[in-house]
Amino acid sequence: MTDREVLTPEELWRRYDDVETRVAAPLSERMLDLAGVGPGMRVLDLATGRGEPALRAARRVAPDGLVVGVEVAHGILEMAREKARRSGISNLDLRVADATSPLGIASNYFHAATVRWGLMYMKEPVASLMHVHRALLPTGVLVVALWAEPERVPYYTLPRRLLQRFRALPAPDPEAPGTFRYADLEKVRHDFGRAGFRIDHVEEMDVTVFESQSDAELVDWVRALGLTPLLNSLSESEQRAWERELTSEVRRRGGGSLRLGGVSRIVRACKL
Ligand SMILES: C[S@@+](CC[C@H](N)C(=O)[O-])C[C@H]1O[C@@H](n2cnc3c(N)ncnc32)[C@H](O)[C@@H]1O
Repeated sequence: MTDREVLTPEELWRRYDDVETRVAAPLSERMLDLAGVGPGMRVLDLATGRGEPALRAARRVAPDGLVVGVEVAHGILEMAREKARRSGISNLDLRVADATSPLGIASNYFHAATVRWGLMYMKEPVASLMHVHRALLPTGVLVVALWAEPERVPYYTLPRRLLQRFRALPAPDPEAPGTFRYADLEKVRHDFGRAGFRIDHVEEMDVTVFESQSDAELVDWVRALGLTPLLNSLSESEQRAWERELTSEVRRRGGGSLRLGGVSRIVRACKL
């Protein structure tokens, strides 16, 4: 059996950054619209990763506004720095920090805060929400993007469902950090309330997260999202069968195109 390489998160993001940035852009733009981000504002973006939506926010608030992006993984944040340099963005302050610790940021300072696909992965999300609460002006707004229920998020669920034909997979723990930790809107309301926020708007968006021209590229992307070690434990013929089923199911759902994504909930909240 030939084992496929296991990509680190940084290798994964570097390889697929261009396509992912492009296809998921409507979500970032909608988050910034809902937060009312415009010229002169100060914006805090937590778990900014490769700079989403921080880089777009920095363009919107220029020339006098400021964006602070916080990300725990140094290598991933370096990609955001490179992108800011390439685009000539100078009003973006990118910091390596754990968003669940005090952020060392002035209180009552930001007009808006954003977290795109980040809160659910934090060890202590309520602590992080409390830091955001402190950092926001009394009129400040928080806009967060979260994944909906597993059955509506095929980019994550479909490859695993097909894999279960060959291997039993442990059920995800909804309390542990992970993709579906905030799939239940009641839990979102509960934790936002504990941190002093009131949710005033919720909407859903079907977001593409990856688009491919070839079966091989789609398979590589899905594998890189955490499935390679499991797949490497299958026989060569089982792996090929899984790949065939995956690509034909994705094509069938996409009317012939190779696209994967899922439903994101966009939640806007203000201070209680
Ligand atoms: C799925 S990525 C989303 C990145 C970016 N916001 C986007 O939408 O492309 C989740 C990010 O959250 C970061 N993260 C997880 N826990 C964190 C924490 N406690 N503090 C800061 N960043 C964190 C991860 O390192 C990762 O870059």
